[in-house]
Amino acid sequence: MADFFNEGWSWYVALLSVASVLACAVLLWLAGKARVSAKARADNTTGHVWDEDLREYNNPLPRWWMWLFIITVIFGLIYLALYPGLGAYEGMHKWSQQGQHQADARQMREALAPMYAQFTAKPVADLAKDAQALAIGQRHFMNYCSQCHGSDARGGKGYPNLTQGAAGWLGPLSGEHIVQTITQGRQGVMPAMGAAIGSEAAISDLAHYVMSLSGSPHNEIKAFGGKKYFAACAACHGNDGKGNKALGASNLTDNDWLHGWGEEAIVNIIKNGKTNVMPAQAAWLSPEQIHVLAAYVLSLSAGGSDLTVQPAPTR
Ligand code: HEC
Ligand code: HEC
Repeated sequence: MADFFNEGWSWYVALLSVASVLACAVLLWLAGKARVSAKARADNTTGHVWDEDLREYNNPLPRWWMWLFIITVIFGLIYLALYPGLGAYEGMHKWSQQGQHQADARQMREALAPMYAQFTAKPVADLAKDAQALAIGQRHFMNYCSQCHGSDARGGKGYPNLTQGAAGWLGPLSGEHIVQTITQGRQGVMPAMGAAIGSEAAISDLAHYVMSLSGSPHNEIKAFGGKKYFAACAACHGNDGKGNKALGASNLTDNDWLHGWGEEAIVNIIKNGKTNVMPAQAAWLSPEQIHVLAAYVLSLSAGGSDLTVQPAPTR
């Protein structure tokens, strides 16, 4: 019914379909009986001639052809009774494309269930060493995550790099945090702090102090003057600027800039704040798939440990 504005249209389409099938049948019946020309000619032709000597005979349709046509009409009517085609009528089989897709998907899930059960029996950190799980996780990553985090998972402006190891992460680098992030999404919120800091000059000085934390090029006099304003930031970013993983507040000492590097970018974030959202993925990924995906993501940051790091996937 969903495709029609109201039931009237459904009836209109249904009647039109039946009427046209029946009209075909009637036309067939008439053409099968009647001769084209009422005036029978002596040589049984209609008098139409083409290409000098090609003549049209005044005969009814051949029987074999007519029977084929009748079979198609009957087939059409049976088909319309069994399958959807008459307006909003569902057909006796209640078949639908969506139902077919769901049945196929269910069958696939059931077939894969034993394999996923094996995976979910292991903690994410152990699964991050399982080559088969990582290969599956990588494919999920390509389908569901690469549009934001990049096919090599190195992210981009505003989208975290997932390959850089614990120090660069907003949250803790753990299977639990990754599963939670994928399932529920996450939101990083830094409030606008411009008014709390004060003048343009003060904000600029503070930006230089922030740059000094990571040893980035900065003006030392301005940074020295800006240090005192950092007290307002320390609640989230810590006195040492190393961030706070529980709040998702960035580490400002690692020279890794999610929202852009340099005075202008930092002044901008101090003045305007930042709300950065990753949407929840639970609507299209099952808990089992998320478990395997989390193992893949964890493995990406495992450089140097005994975990095997997947080569950067190519597309
Ligand atoms: C629509 C874009 C988008 C998609 C799709 C997306 N993410 Fe994210 N993801 C983000 C953003 C933005 C953040 C940063 C949120 C913040 O600042 O707190 C993020 C953060 C994360 C984090 C936390 C990183 C940290 O440093 O703590 C993980 C883990 C993660 N995403 C994994 C995934 C996985 C796995 C998928 C695929 C299922 C995925 N993301 C799909 C945008 C996306
Ligand atoms: C209420 C907590 C909070 C306070 C206070 C706060 N921040 Fe933030 N800040 C955050 C969070 C959370 C993020 C990460 C945003 C995200 O998820 O992308 C962030 C991100 C940043 C970034 C971007 C880092 C990057 O990698 O690009 C800079 C720079 C920054 N803050 C500087 C400051 C400065 C300077 C102050 C003080 C004026 C300040 N913050 C105060 C929570 C806070």
